[in-house]
Amino acid sequence: MNQQLADRLRFLRAFATNPRQVGAILPTSRLAVRDMLDMGDVPGASLVVELGAGTGSQTGEILARMGPDARLVALEIDPRLVEILEERFTDPRLQVVCDSAENLADHLGDERADVLVCALPFTSLEPKLRRRILESLPSALGPDGVALVIQYSPLIQSELRRLFGDVRRRISPVNVPPAFLFACRRGPRVD
Ligand SMILES: C[S@@+](CC[C@H](N)C(=O)[O-])C[C@H]1O[C@@H](n2cnc3c(N)ncnc32)[C@H](O)[C@@H]1O
Repeated sequence: MNQQLADRLRFLRAFATNPRQVGAILPTSRLAVRDMLDMGDVPGASLVVELGAGTGSQTGEILARMGPDARLVALEIDPRLVEILEERFTDPRLQVVCDSAENLADHLGDERADVLVCALPFTSLEPKLRRRILESLPSALGPDGVALVIQYSPLIQSELRRLFGDVRRRISPVNVPPAFLFACRRGPRVD
């Protein structure tokens, strides 16, 4: 069985076990991942954070774009998906953490992310948890950092606009379902 099919089956199994937590039946398509990462400067980042890494569809592309001395901290709450990530990636720049994104600050210490990639299924998460995670995002970023958020609906757009000074949106239509991509920066929009 090829890697992509194996990943899809494992992802589907995770979805069947916990649909609200996984939030999608398929991993994000390669094209949507590329469209999303094109909205931030991954090659220039020293620290990249990934929330909800799943089977690694974004992790692999982030590592491919990152510089040799950069680091990626990837949080994933499902221990079976963490096992897959650890089997799949042996890159020393990657640290996989099995924990909820709401505890991100504990794993960052004094560091701040230059790029934060977030694929959490905000619309199906419990509302208080969703709010806690969303409200923690701006302070996880460095002053010039960007949070790249992928969703399957525009529902959290107003919440992102409340939390960030500059929110840009793209749609990646060649994903099942079409993906809404947000690039969020703390400062006001300048262009
Ligand atoms: C829509 S999937 C995205 C997976 C992968 N990044 C992709 O794009 O294919 C959402 C992922 O977020 C994880 N997740 C859900 N709630 C989480 C939380 N509170 N903290 C960390 N990960 C979480 C799920 O287990 C799942 O792997």
